[in-house]
Amino acid sequence: MSRIAVFGAGYVGLVTGACFADLGHDVVVRDVLSDRIDELRAGRVPIHEPGLDELLARAGGRLRFTVDVGEALDGAELVFVAVGTPPTYSGDPDLSAVWTVVDELPAGADTTLVMKSTVPPGTGEKVRRALDTRGLGDLAYVSNPEFLAEGTAVRDFMQPDRVVIGAFEPDHAERVARLYEPLSTTILRTDVASAEMIKLASNAFLSTRISFINEIASVCELVGADVVDVAEGIGLDHRLGPHFLKAGLGFGGSCFPKDVSALKQLAGNSGYHFQLLAAVIEVNELQRRRVIQKLQKHLGDLHGKEIAVLGLAFKPGTDDLREAPSLVIAARLLAEGADVRAWDPVADARALLPEVTFASTVLDAVREADAAVIVTEWPEVSELATPEAYAAMRRPVIVDGRNTLDPESMRELGFVYEGVGRPVPVEVER
Ligand SMILES: NC(=O)c1ccc[n+]([C@@H]2O[C@H](COP(=O)([O-])OP(=O)(O)OC[C@H]3O[C@@H](n4cnc5c(N)ncnc54)[C@H](O)[C@@H]3O)[C@@H](O)[C@H]2O)c1
Repeated sequence: MSRIAVFGAGYVGLVTGACFADLGHDVVVRDVLSDRIDELRAGRVPIHEPGLDELLARAGGRLRFTVDVGEALDGAELVFVAVGTPPTYSGDPDLSAVWTVVDELPAGADTTLVMKSTVPPGTGEKVRRALDTRGLGDLAYVSNPEFLAEGTAVRDFMQPDRVVIGAFEPDHAERVARLYEPLSTTILRTDVASAEMIKLASNAFLSTRISFINEIASVCELVGADVVDVAEGIGLDHRLGPHFLKAGLGFGGSCFPKDVSALKQLAGNSGYHFQLLAAVIEVNELQRRRVIQKLQKHLGDLHGKEIAVLGLAFKPGTDDLREAPSLVIAARLLAEGADVRAWDPVADARALLPEVTFASTVLDAVREADAAVIVTEWPEVSELATPEAYAAMRRPVIVDGRNTLDPESMRELGFVYEGVGRPVPVEVER
């Protein structure tokens, strides 16, 4: 069993630390936020991630938390970097937290530094040079990008599709590969730049599929086809598969927008114009705004209208609001003069949306509303498909931004229902 340090107690760092502790390792997670560390020490989990509470509860003494760099590094055979790499105004990621960790490694440190944060290809090479310059040539550097998805992070970590390990020396890769052996998955060993590229390219490809199906949805709306059937038909082709072909309000979250932009900018910085990704980003931005036109089609001017926004987290199963489509939609509605009432079972957007009022149930959110927009497909949203919800609304207009409800049943209940890329009966158009 190894002594492991994890820098960063966010979604990736906490899950990594908890899972390695569960696999029997001795783990210390370090963060700079003392409040977060205090909460974790008191047994409270600062993020919503299914299964994480249980892992933390049963970790016992194998998992400790600290703000102290020295305590985290003391005896650590492997140091995982899981700090944030948020986007900057230029579209390049902000690597300052990564560099802080690298710079904080003390002289004489002899460990294996494992980069789990998502960093652009070329970063490992730069870190290696910086370490060598500081006389830390014995310290091993390994890239081990993380592919977990929020909402299923614990399962994704414990049952990964693959583990990617990029190293400058084969025996450095083995030190990290050993940790993943109990997970019986494919371990792909590459050079450092390729490992870094696999992460960005994977997220860019997933995002491309989403923007692709959203463009197909827009064409479906014009020609009367149903994108749900179209996606099913595409997905049955074994060369394509069914995943990430759900038309909706576009992708959000802390990773896809940032990583697509990082890859586009990396290409641009290197002298290549990545046209496809430019389109992927533009389609995604427009997709969120199309909701407003759909509402205007049914309600006319939105000024003074009560609009319920159902779901705020960027996807179900998480409380993460980073780059959430809900924020753009709420801001657009407010800009049109609408009154916005929002509901989400876990995400707390009060600080981000001070002009919005919040409801604690779906039914409360839609009471006396002129329309409801489904932004996140939480299971509770099915409460809309009831006579009570129909009776509660002032006007029964539903824009289902995630195609989560059955159009026919909704119309039978009396709702004016519109999904994304789905046929709208002629009588609704009148
Ligand atoms: N969230 C995801 O779904 C996901 C999935 C795969 C990869 N990633 C990547 O993993 C990285 C971390 O993402 P996240 O979502 O966990 O971020 P996060 O913002 O939730 O957590 C990052 C944590 O790092 C801490 N931190 C900052 N500087 C530090 C330092 N010097 N020492 C210790 N801690 C420090 C922050 O206080 C914060 O708690 C990013 O590069 C991200 O792109 C994220």
